[in-house]
This record gives sequence, structure tokens and C-alpha cells, in this order.
Amino acid sequence: MTELTMVLVELIAIFIAVLIVIYTYYKYVVFNYWRKKGVFYVEPVVPTGNIGSLVASKVSIGQFFHDLYIKYKDHRAFGIYAFFKPNLIITDPELIRVVLTKEFKHFHDRGIFSNEKIDPLTGNLFLLPGKKWRKLRVKMTPTFTLGKIKQMFAIVKMCGDELISSVENVAQTEDCIEIKDWFGRYTTDIIMSIAFGIKSKCIEEGDNEIRYWGKKIFEVHPLWTALSAFTPQIMKFFSIPATSRGVTKFVIKTFRENMEYRQTHKIVKHDFMNLLIQLMEKGYVESDDKDIDKSSTTNVNKLTLLQAIAQAYSFFAAGFETSSTTATFCLYELAQQQDLQDKLCKEIDETLKKHGELTYNALNEMTYLHKVINETLRKYPPLPILNRICTEEINLPTTNIHVPKGMTISIPLLGLHRDPSIYPEPDKFDPERFNRDKIAARHPYAYLPFGEGPRICIGSKFGYIQTKVGIVSLLSRFKFKLDPRTTVPVNFVENHASLTAKDSIYLTIEPR
Ligand code: HEM
Repeated sequence: MTELTMVLVELIAIFIAVLIVIYTYYKYVVFNYWRKKGVFYVEPVVPTGNIGSLVASKVSIGQFFHDLYIKYKDHRAFGIYAFFKPNLIITDPELIRVVLTKEFKHFHDRGIFSNEKIDPLTGNLFLLPGKKWRKLRVKMTPTFTLGKIKQMFAIVKMCGDELISSVENVAQTEDCIEIKDWFGRYTTDIIMSIAFGIKSKCIEEGDNEIRYWGKKIFEVHPLWTALSAFTPQIMKFFSIPATSRGVTKFVIKTFRENMEYRQTHKIVKHDFMNLLIQLMEKGYVESDDKDIDKSSTTNVNKLTLLQAIAQAYSFFAAGFETSSTTATFCLYELAQQQDLQDKLCKEIDETLKKHGELTYNALNEMTYLHKVINETLRKYPPLPILNRICTEEINLPTTNIHVPKGMTISIPLLGLHRDPSIYPEPDKFDPERFNRDKIAARHPYAYLPFGEGPRICIGSKFGYIQTKVGIVSLLSRFKFKLDPRTTVPVNFVENHASLTAKDSIYLTIEPR
């Protein structure tokens, strides 16, 4: 054996020895956590724990937690490992209530990566922890009152009208449309208008620069998604930003330019951007009757420009995709059940006839529409899991589980919403599940498309409005059927934080 071969053999032996040590450490020390605590857990593998299929993009995050829920839900709460970190999954509605609401003070953060220094756009309401979140939530709450949302109805309605005329043009030459893209363009135009003050013209132009960046926000490598959700400390340690540099540059430039334009020309509009400018200039938002809103005067710290931009960004990230996927899945289901579509069209026609046009009040009178949207949000919750992190140790009531500070918690919404013991025949799309008596018969925490507790979605009213206006606009003019090219049931995109259809959703379109 030559000297070089001997060195090589030694190196390989050292390498194997190191691997064995790491493997043994993982298997008998790291992966001993749940066993030692006497909590049921899913058997992990080195080195990804239980999330190998997620990191390898083999399955969507929603489907991953759904499958775990369906398999192990009877344990009420159980452990998995995300890489080396234990993660607690909660499936029982009563325990979910404990985490989200009853013991909120122990679980007030999401635990997802947020670091304003490394990544300024992560300094937003969705991601900020602790006191920073609380102060901001108090400040932002007056921007989402019904009065403020009603003032923005005109912008949403205008985008609905633009959607009708653009789709009408296409329908003159084609008998089929790809609905996912149309609704993506529609909600991008709405949110860019209300949060960034610009007319993004995506409905009209399709794939323009703004649509490109809108899509880019969600194109995050699954490894980064897993790291920022389960082990944000690694991102912080290596100073890795979660938002791509391109997105950050685009968002900051767009907001700053339009804000300066408004300030220079003294333009005031009834939208979120105006309210963010008020928070920057005065530190509070004027209430609907022009008096200062009492709830926001207790702390008059003004928002900095970057803080305001981070909020506009979170409205965009949390508000455009969630509503566009809901509208998409809604028409996808209605295209498969013509009787439900006819019933909804009848309600739309009668209400529009009564009111003369689509108004906020007309929309609110459409009770069947509300059930249809709620059923869509049940079957396809746009955020398919809720995240929390334990911020103060606690013994989880009615269990033997001690939750230490720092433990990440996942609540599998898609699993909960498709649990056959709560929703019989869960794959059946049935808006009657949202009749009053049926709702009253279910546990209130068995339906959580907007989350619950103090960190519940702040934009739910606006989300309902833009989704409903999109559906009403199209159904008031067209009839939809499923094109044979469309997959049933739908597959979900693997490397996407929200629940999104993987393939195109083609619908045939006929004027009504
Ligand atoms: C159909 C539409 C929507 C759905 C299904 C949805 C769903 C959700 C969910 C599940 C959460 C997490 C709640 C929790 O952890 O308990 C959330 C939080 C949030 N959503 Fe929405 N959302 C929608 C529309 C919107 C819109 C239109 C906006 C803004 C304009 C928005 C802004 C936010 C923000 C800022 C948060 C973080 C709240 C906080 O942590 O204090 N969402 N949303």
C-alpha cells in the first residue's frame, strides 16, 4: 500500500467514524426528546427528522401536515422532528383553543424567521414577535375597521369591472380560460392599488413586471421555508435573509416612489397606503368620524418608512394569493356542480336587480355566496397550517405534555377541515355545511381558515370582499364548466407556503 493510499484510507475511516458519531448522537440523544418525555411521536430519520419529504419538495406543506393529522389525530397532540428540533403538532380542537386563545400569553408568536436588520420586510405584523407585534397590532387595527374597508370597496369594484371586460374580450375568441391566472392578476391589481397606490394593470396586460414580482414572493426554496419556519435561529446565525434581494428592492422602490408622489402632490385616497402614511406622519390613524381613534393614541410612536413598507408588503404577501386561490377553487368546484352554480347565479341576479348594481350592502345580502366561500375555505384553506412558538413554558391542560419555551407548534388546518369525523364526506363540496344549525353543532375551533385568538387574520373582511367581488363579477356574466384538461382532484404545488393548485385550471366559458 502506498503512503497516499494509506492517507486516503485513514481519511475515509475518520469520515465514517464522524458520520457514525453524528448518527448515534442524533438517534440516541437528539431524537430521544419525545421518548424521554413520554409523548407519542413519529419515528424520525437522520438528518431531516420527519420533514425529509418536505425539504425534498415531494409533498406540499399542507398535504404533509394533513397526512400526519389523519394518521395520528387520535393522540390529540404528538411530536415530530424538524431536522434536530422537536415540533409539537396539535389536532384536538379544544387543545387548539388553549394554544390560540385561552393560554395565548404562552404562545403569542409564530416563531417564523423575522429580523429587521438582515431582512427589513420581515419586520411585518405577520412575522414580528412579542411586544413589537403587540404595539404594531394595536396601531394597525384601526386601519381594518369596517368603515375603512367600506371606503375601499370602490377600488375592488373597479377591478371587478375590469376583470369582466378583459374576460369578455377573451371570451369573444376563446371558449376556455385559465382561471388561476385571471384571479391572480385581479387580486394583484387590488392589493397593489390599496397598499402601494399604483395601478398595476395586471388584468389588462397579464405577465408584466409587477405580476412577475408578485409570483416571485412565493418562489422560495423549500429548504429556506423549512429553515425559517422550524429553525429560524440558523437563518439568524448565518445572516440569511428570507426575502430575495430582488423582491426587497422592488417593494421598497415601488412604495417609496408612490408615497413621495402622493406627498408632493398632496393626494389623499381612501386606501391602506394612505393609512400607512398617517401612521408614519402622525403615529395614529384618523378614525372614521375624523376624531383621533382612541385605541391608537396610547402609543404615538410613528412608523419609520421601512416599517410602513414592511406592512404594505405583508398585506400583499398575505392578501393577494390567499384571496385569488379561494376564488379559483370556488369556481373550480362550481364548474363541477352546475346545480350549485345555478343556485348562486340566481341569488346574484336577484340581488343585483334589487340594488341596481354591486354595492357593499348588495354583497352582504348574498347569504348563499357566503356559504359557498366558507365551504371553499374549508376544503382549501389558503394557509394550510397555523404556527405558534411557546414563549413561556406551560403544562398543556388535560394532557401530560410539558411545553418548554422555544417549542414550535403546528396546527394542521387542512387536516382539521378534511377530518371525516367533523365533516362527513370531506372531499364533497357542500355549502350547506355552513347552515346555522350545522355550524352550531361543530366545535368552534374545527373551522379556522383565518386562524383564531389575538393573532387572527387582520384582513379577513377585506379578503372576503375581494374574493366575493371577483366571483360575483364573473358569475353575473358567464357560465363556467370544467375543461377536460383540468385535473380532478387538484394537486397542490409542493414548494409553496400556501395551498395552490399545481396544474392549470381551465374552465370553459359561455356568456349567460
Ligand atoms: C381569503 C383571504 C385570507 C385568508 C384565508 C387569510 C388567512 C390568514 C391566516 C390563517 C392567518 C394566520 C392567523 C393565525 O395564525 O391565527 C392570517 C394572518 C394575517 N393576515 Fe390574512 N388571510 C386572508 C386575507 C388577508 C388580507 C386581504 C390581508 C391584508 C390586506 C391579510 C393580512 C394578514 C396579516 C397582516 C396577518 C397577520 C396578523 C397578525 O399576526 O397579527 N390577510 N391570515
